[in-house]
Amino acid sequence: MGLSLPHGGHLTHGWKVSYTGKFFNSVQYELDPATGRLDYNKIADLAKQHKPKIIISGSSAYPRAIDFKAFDEIAKSVGAFHVSDIAHIAGLVAGGAHQSPIPFADVVTTTTHKSLRGPRGGMILFKEQHAAAVNKAVFPGLQGGPHIHTISALAVCLGEALTPAFKAYAAQIVTNARKLAEKLMEYGFNLVSGGTDNHLILIDLRNKNLSGKPLAKALDRAHLECNYNSVPGDTAPPFNPSGLRLGTPATTTRGMKEPQMELIAGWIKTVAENIDNETVIKKVAGEVDALCKQFPVKESFV
Ligand SMILES: Cc1ncc(COP(=O)(O)O)c(C=O)c1O
Repeated sequence: MGLSLPHGGHLTHGWKVSYTGKFFNSVQYELDPATGRLDYNKIADLAKQHKPKIIISGSSAYPRAIDFKAFDEIAKSVGAFHVSDIAHIAGLVAGGAHQSPIPFADVVTTTTHKSLRGPRGGMILFKEQHAAAVNKAVFPGLQGGPHIHTISALAVCLGEALTPAFKAYAAQIVTNARKLAEKLMEYGFNLVSGGTDNHLILIDLRNKNLSGKPLAKALDRAHLECNYNSVPGDTAPPFNPSGLRLGTPATTTRGMKEPQMELIAGWIKTVAENIDNETVIKKVAGEVDALCKQFPVKESFV
């Protein structure tokens, strides 16, 4: 049982086109349509009804804090294992800006290249009693030789995650996302759940008469990177959905703070209002480049 893809879950949480949805009998939970948030009572009811063997917490496009303790209680109440996929928020968890699932989940999985800011890869963390099963599933079950170069880069990443500078980075990611969300709402953008508690913002563009793909492409031409994304209740197809997903880890890594988030929100508004006006879009691209020059990517951020 996992969060449905259009409601912010990941393909691998049992969505029908992924092998996790093809090989297994998968039940998907959804967000509360009124609040755009997880409804733990409904998830508990669904778990009682379907008795899943595994309940997955975690998401790809959910802008709110996740209560891992509540998920664990639900899993325990039906005898399920609780697997938590913190791919998106691992940096926030490591930096103390989001509740950690480690005390609550049987298994925690994460990618290492999102907010954790490491090399492309993944980690599986587990309670001792699952060691034999997980290790056997990885090797010889799924994986060949270890990628030593990635492991050494990951060691550097995890070393950085222990520093006070990383803690500050994690906190600033959330502060920046909140500021960006606040300004976007001021400009009349509808945000799923009405804001954010983490690193990401999901804009529902339906009130703007715009769809995600052309706006994401126009923002790309303005040198602002984001992705077009489905929103809960979306009737548009996934390849041209009604939403836009933004995140603050990259700009935060460059040292940008609240004043720069205000600029970015203003540029998003300008591009959204001038989606076919290449002169305006080019002007924004120049301003974005100038800002990035003031906040260059450095060799080390700690
Ligand atoms: C929750 C979650 N899990 C796993 C993944 C897999 O990450 P990747 O495709 O980068 O390996 C993603 C990526 O979007 C994700 O959001």
